[in-house]
Amino acid sequence: FEDSVVNQVAGEFELDAAQLRSLVDLFLSEMDAGLQNNGKGMAMIPTFVSNLPTGDEQGTFLAVDLGGTNLRVCSVKLLGNGKYSMEQRKVGVSQELMNGSCEELFKYIALQIRTFLDLHHRDELASQELTVLKLGFTFSFPVEQLSINEGILLRWTKGFNIPEAVGKDVCKLLQTQIDNISLPVKVAALVNDTVGTLMARCYTNPDPSTTVLGAIFGTGTNGAYVENRAKIQACPAARKGDGPSMVVNTEWGGFDNSLTALPDTAYDQELDRLTNNSGSQMFEKRVSGMFLGEILRIAYNAISFRCKEAVLTAFSEPWSVDTALLSVAASDGSSELEELQRFLTNQYAVGRLPIENLRAIKVLSTAIGKRSARLAAAAIAGVLIKYTSPFKKDDFVSLGDLDIGLDGSLAEFFPNYEGYIRESLKEIPAVASLSCRITMGIAKDGSGVGAALIASTTV
Ligand code: BG6
Ligand code: GLC
Repeated sequence: FEDSVVNQVAGEFELDAAQLRSLVDLFLSEMDAGLQNNGKGMAMIPTFVSNLPTGDEQGTFLAVDLGGTNLRVCSVKLLGNGKYSMEQRKVGVSQELMNGSCEELFKYIALQIRTFLDLHHRDELASQELTVLKLGFTFSFPVEQLSINEGILLRWTKGFNIPEAVGKDVCKLLQTQIDNISLPVKVAALVNDTVGTLMARCYTNPDPSTTVLGAIFGTGTNGAYVENRAKIQACPAARKGDGPSMVVNTEWGGFDNSLTALPDTAYDQELDRLTNNSGSQMFEKRVSGMFLGEILRIAYNAISFRCKEAVLTAFSEPWSVDTALLSVAASDGSSELEELQRFLTNQYAVGRLPIENLRAIKVLSTAIGKRSARLAAAAIAGVLIKYTSPFKKDDFVSLGDLDIGLDGSLAEFFPNYEGYIRESLKEIPAVASLSCRITMGIAKDGSGVGAALIASTTV
């Protein structure tokens, strides 16, 4: 590979401070449009979650999490004082289930709940120590929430495609399958993973009121934040109720689908053509784990073509490259990139590559991951600016810190992901000039604990 070609292609993933600022401006206007009028801007879905946890919640709850890398079934014992214990079981979801029928998918989930209860709660159920278990259902797709345990699927994302489920209440679909096999389980709350992340971060934060945003940078990307209830103009039902605020699920994966401010390289365009929802989730397709491996594969193949080299067999099929490769490549600091070579050999059966080619994978991975984090920062900045806009500068003394809960495989494993976000936030004047501290960190077990917390507030 020629260095000049590699650097030129990697350079196409750079995002300068001016682009970052235009993205933030557009993000703010799409937030407003979404809050005012369903169908315009981002979805900005009211969640009917109005009370943030105090840390004192207690009890045992079930949680099911669909939409990340794995399907997880958990039981969470909330112990108060921000403490909890948890059992969990993860299983995969096959391509057949992701593209099959409603009944098959929800029956599979119900059967996984039964297996989990048999493994972890058989005795308590037999002795009636536990009778009916409340379940928080973390369903991480765009859903129009009608109440705390009712929500209509608007569309699928992240490679799922079961058309007959669109327009249906996903809680009902799950409850029906649970009832069919007579499990003592009530679907008590429907939760997006970002909302779970926000709740879990609050629960463990000694000063819960400072947590304002839960954000996922994993298979998909999205954020949920605390909004002034009166601002949710598009939904009269959300404006009523106790307390001044409600958590809003932005569905920021669908930000700037018309590509007004987002970068749009030839590699992004090729990726979009290969998806089953071309033209939608355009922000997510540049940020999240499901897509970054594919962008790397396309860009690497473009370099091979320009340097007149044969395409690697392992990189010849769409979707053959996993985002884990980007994390391994970007974090390999050795001069010969041995770890990257080992990973390629073990996971992709790739023989010894010339060092220039290994370096190309590393340079591209770093560039693609860094662009993702800078885009992530634009979304975070948008939310922080929106959240703080009603406050005058002097109020920040009482507002205190602003805290963000993060989750997802990129936030957790891509080297320096959080560092790139912080660096980028400093380039956005409206955030850099906030006179409060911004803290952020991984909210472990977001959907399990978060879903349990929300289930705990239901009657
Ligand atoms: C998990 C959460 O930790 O992170 C899930 O429990 C969430 O709810 C997931 O969807 C996102 O990360 P990934 O990388 O699995 O998509
Ligand atoms: C997708 C889903 C969204 C979810 C995000 C992270 O963007 O539409 O609901 O929160 O992925 O999992």
